Amino acid sequence: MRIDILTLFPNMFKNILEESIIKRAIEKNLIEINIINFRDYSPLNNQQVDDTPYGGGSGMVLRCEPIFLAIDDIKTEESKVILLTPEGKTYNQQTAKDFSKEKHLIIICGHYEGFDERIKTLVDYEISIGDFILTGGEIPAMILIDSISRLVDGVITSGSLESESFENNLLDYPTYTKPREYRGLTVPEILLSGDHKKIADYRKEMQIKKTKEKRPDLLK
Ligand SMILES: C[S@@+](CC[C@H](N)C(=O)[O-])C[C@H]1O[C@@H](n2cnc3c(N)ncnc32)[C@H](O)[C@@H]1O
Repeated sequence: MRIDILTLFPNMFKNILEESIIKRAIEKNLIEINIINFRDYSPLNNQQVDDTPYGGGSGMVLRCEPIFLAIDDIKTEESKVILLTPEGKTYNQQTAKDFSKEKHLIIICGHYEGFDERIKTLVDYEISIGDFILTGGEIPAMILIDSISRLVDGVITSGSLESESFENNLLDYPTYTKPREYRGLTVPEILLSGDHKKIADYRKEMQIKKTKEKRPDLLK
C-alpha cells in the first residue's frame, strides 16, 4: 500500500516513520509513505499557499491551486483521496480496516483557518478524528497512518488483531504477565490453569463484562 500525505509541515512526520512497526513495515516494503509539501505545488512566485477569506473574517485560508496541482500530479485510478476536517465522518476502527484494503491513499492535511471549499470536489472521504479542533491535519494524518499500517497484510501477526478492542463490537480482555503477585495484586487463577477452553471462555466473559461497563454503546 502507498500513502501520500500532503502537508505544509513535513518535518512533523520524521519520527513516526522512523520508529517501531511503521519503520519495519516500510523496510519490508509492505507500505510506502511519501510526505509531500504542497507548497512545492504553489503556482505563485513566493510559494504562497494561503490568503485572506473572501467576505472577510479572521485567519488565513488555504488556496485551492496547490492542492489541485498536487492531486493532478499524484492521483491514479487506484487512489482514494481523504481530506482531514472536523466536519468529516468520525474515524473509527472499521474505517481504518476499510482504508487498509486500498492500494493508494492520498491524505490532505489542512492548517490555519481551513481550506478553500472547492478542495472538497477532489476528495472521496472527509474524515474527522473527533469533535475537537486541532491546529492542523498532521496529527490526525499520523493517527490514520498508524492505525491503517498495522492492519495491512503482513505488518503484524494476524493473531494479535483478532481479539483487539472493537472486533465484534467488544473491548479487549484483561491481560497479565509476570510476576504472579505484586503488592498483593494477583493474577486470576484461571489464567494459570493451563485449561485453554476455560481460559477462552473466561476471556470472552470478561470482554462482554468490560464492554457493558465501559462502552455499552458498542453492544447496541
Ligand atoms: C484549525 S483547523 C480548522 C478548523 C475549521 N475552521 C473549523 O472550524 O472547522 C485546521 C485544520 O486542522 C485539521 N483538523 C483540525 N481538527 C481536526 C479534527 N478533529 N479531525 C481532523 N482534522 C482536523 C483540518 O485539516 C483543518 O483544516
